[in-house]
Amino acid sequence: MRRLGQILDQIHDRIHEEADWGLPAQYIPELASVDREQFAISAVTPDGQCHSAGLAQRPFSIQSISKVFALTATLGRIGDALWTRVGREPTKVAFDSIMLLETDHGRPSNPFVNAGAIVTTDALLAGREPRQALAEILGLVRTMAGTDDIYINDRVAQSEKRTAERNKALAHYLASHGNLVNDPDLTLGTYFHQCAIEMTTEQLAMSGRVLADLKCAPPTISRAHARRTNALMLTCGHYDASGEFAFKVGLPGKSGVGGGILLIAPRKASIGIWSPGLNGYGNSEAGTRAAAMLADMTGWSVF
Ligand code: DON
Repeated sequence: MRRLGQILDQIHDRIHEEADWGLPAQYIPELASVDREQFAISAVTPDGQCHSAGLAQRPFSIQSISKVFALTATLGRIGDALWTRVGREPTKVAFDSIMLLETDHGRPSNPFVNAGAIVTTDALLAGREPRQALAEILGLVRTMAGTDDIYINDRVAQSEKRTAERNKALAHYLASHGNLVNDPDLTLGTYFHQCAIEMTTEQLAMSGRVLADLKCAPPTISRAHARRTNALMLTCGHYDASGEFAFKVGLPGKSGVGGGILLIAPRKASIGIWSPGLNGYGNSEAGTRAAAMLADMTGWSVF
């Protein structure tokens, strides 16, 4: 394998040559105006070294990648009790679909579709103030990333709140099935703020060290927990494009509509990728291609 730094540089150059950027998330006004011609990739190796190419120190909105951290915090708090309220199966519907909730009696398919993440956050909130649950998620993210320099962008959270009819519908539908214990507005407020956490690709790569089982990782979660999270990322992390992502990349990954991807190469590297333009599934267009290039050039697929 060529040196990792050179591989990342090559991927960066190819992404800019191809100039196929997709379109930033349109339904969150604060994200819609982000310049789409941006790209960054960072990879942390077991020795703790972080290699990067592109805009690796530019913070972006992690959006649904926060679902990995919220799941981690919630499992830490209530353990397997979460699975009575949320499933662990992939879906062939969009991340914000309400369709399966009716046939599945208000139990979301998995913790990474919006409905499942709203229930997960609701379980973490558990009658507390939203700021307490948010402090728990943000504290966990900072510990996993090894830096306190990670914040919530309130403008993005408010922007999403103003255009959140779909998520409001999901929350109220969940409540109608008794699968929301807090006031829907409080759960949604917590959820929008967790989605509005901003990180750089360097920080994102650092935060995945424990999931990748790297020697340099802080001991934040157990191996069993990390293995299960990776399984869910591989099968559900890219929504109705998870099969395609597994086919082309062969690594657990979690995307967000901010254009970020957290990618885990077990015992090899933890990788953060960002490019804000999205494909039709709401996953980063250039970021997804960069993940496939990386898997191809390194041979890091788990298969
Ligand atoms: O709830 C939403 O719609 C957004 N805050 C997050 C969705 C998301 O990131 C989907 N990912 N690709």
